[in-house]
Amino acid sequence: MPGLVPLSEEMPAWEITVYKNKFNRGKTMIAPKIEKAFNKQLNAELYSAYLYYSMAAYFESINLTGFANWMMIQFQEEQFHASKFYRYINERGGRVLLTAIESPPTEWDSPWTVFEATLAHEQKVTGLINGLADMAMEQKDHASMSFLQWFVSEQVEEENSVDMILGHLKLIKDNPQALFMLDKELAQRVFTPPPAEG
Ligand code: FEO
Repeated sequence: MPGLVPLSEEMPAWEITVYKNKFNRGKTMIAPKIEKAFNKQLNAELYSAYLYYSMAAYFESINLTGFANWMMIQFQEEQFHASKFYRYINERGGRVLLTAIESPPTEWDSPWTVFEATLAHEQKVTGLINGLADMAMEQKDHASMSFLQWFVSEQVEEENSVDMILGHLKLIKDNPQALFMLDKELAQRVFTPPPAEG
């Protein structure tokens, strides 16, 4: 059936052209190398979602429901990121291939260690996005460069919001009343996807 054979990096250029003409009516397709890397990033975004879902469950278990809410919104945001990659791969004539999602940790020592782990994770994701942007640049894939720009800005925002919460936690130290106040504040967070994305 048409479309079931994915493009591979090993295919010679002529075979890719034949494939394009046969299955995709000649539109400019994503390079196999980028298709593969974007599929990997889609998995990484789903892992991020899973990680924050696990952190939400941890906060529920220690009765910090505002913190749990913050992580649930983060969980939704990461699913949104994954779906952006899903849509883009398809729009560019690629094939989405889903793979197993790694198990996230389930226990942390304190809200501080959760947010420390969150910042470290987001820094890792920033590195992955920058790596993809470098690859798109090398391939002279302007559409992918433009697509990734949204993620570059998003990472700045993500790291900043986590860093701010870490700053608050640093001030709070072991003050339960102040922790309760922050919990109430984090309970206010809502998920608002950009309008064009629905
Ligand atoms: Fe999808 Fe938190 O970066």
